[in-house]
Amino acid sequence: MTTVTQKDIATAFKQAGTVPGDTVMFHGSLKSMGHVEGGALSVIDGILDAASPGGTVGAASLWYNGNPEECPKEKFDINTSPTWVGALAETLRRDPRSVRSNSFSHSVSAIGSRAVELTENHGGGRPYPSPWSEQSFAEITPWSKFYQWNALYCFIGVDMNSCTMKHHIESRFVEGLLSQLPPERYMEFRSQLAMDCKSIFWIFYPGVKMREKLEERGLVAHTRLGDADLMSIRTRPLVENVLDILNAAPENWCTPEFYQWICAVRKAARQ
Ligand SMILES: CC(C)(COP(=O)(O)OP(=O)(O)OC[C@H]1O[C@@H](n2cnc3c(N)ncnc32)[C@H](O)[C@@H]1OP(=O)(O)O)[C@@H](O)C(=O)NCCC(=O)NCCS
Repeated sequence: MTTVTQKDIATAFKQAGTVPGDTVMFHGSLKSMGHVEGGALSVIDGILDAASPGGTVGAASLWYNGNPEECPKEKFDINTSPTWVGALAETLRRDPRSVRSNSFSHSVSAIGSRAVELTENHGGGRPYPSPWSEQSFAEITPWSKFYQWNALYCFIGVDMNSCTMKHHIESRFVEGLLSQLPPERYMEFRSQLAMDCKSIFWIFYPGVKMREKLEERGLVAHTRLGDADLMSIRTRPLVENVLDILNAAPENWCTPEFYQWICAVRKAARQ
């Protein structure tokens, strides 16, 4: 088994394109790299080293597990609710240097110079549709800031089925369709999408198939990190290319039922 040090992590993240002052977001598997000296904390500090000086590292610290009975949203506690997404994210969440955004469903934890700015006011600004709530992927969230700041979006030994940013993109895709409707028909179609975790009628594009499309466009970088593949992409091209691909042929990316809904919205928009 390969041994990986904090220095190896910093080197790999620099090779993946991290620059001083960067914001780096990651999803990952600790054991995929081999044996990491110092464990999850070395991974977080290695990424911070790569982005130093002035860098920021973030991870999804999701608490809601898809079951509204096990995780009623009123029970979310920003300070104590653990994340289920793995040891790397949970270590980052519990680190005394870290701050967390206030979202029962899609919070982000971050450390570094822009961590407070990244995580504050999750759900602010204009509400946007999503199956969990209208605040989870609202106008102002860490997810919208990753896009605005063109963060380096990384996957350590995991594929793009673990890409939380996809729900931000899906939300923007759905809102983009709804915004074409005449105002008097907006609520008619928007109300067909539940936004309280209770029923899930949504696009949910397949992440691995989308990663293959992004690879065809030459947008995904791969760097060796111990035994793992460190996959990375800048967030702006990620969001803009996925929206482009979804808009071009949505029937390839959703259930027939959801495609019918898209067609109905498009028809109403033309009337
Ligand atoms: C599910 C997932 C976390 C599993 O990865 P994992 O490496 O098995 O688990 P963790 O990252 O939690 O790390 C714990 C593992 O690391 C091992 N470990 C502990 N210390 C270690 C060290 N110093 N070096 C390497 N591995 C170590 C643990 O033994 C454990 O493995 P085990 O379960 O076989 O005993 C990962 O595959 C994944 O999907 N990550 C992304 C999740 C995500 O962000 N989802 C977004 C949802 S939209």
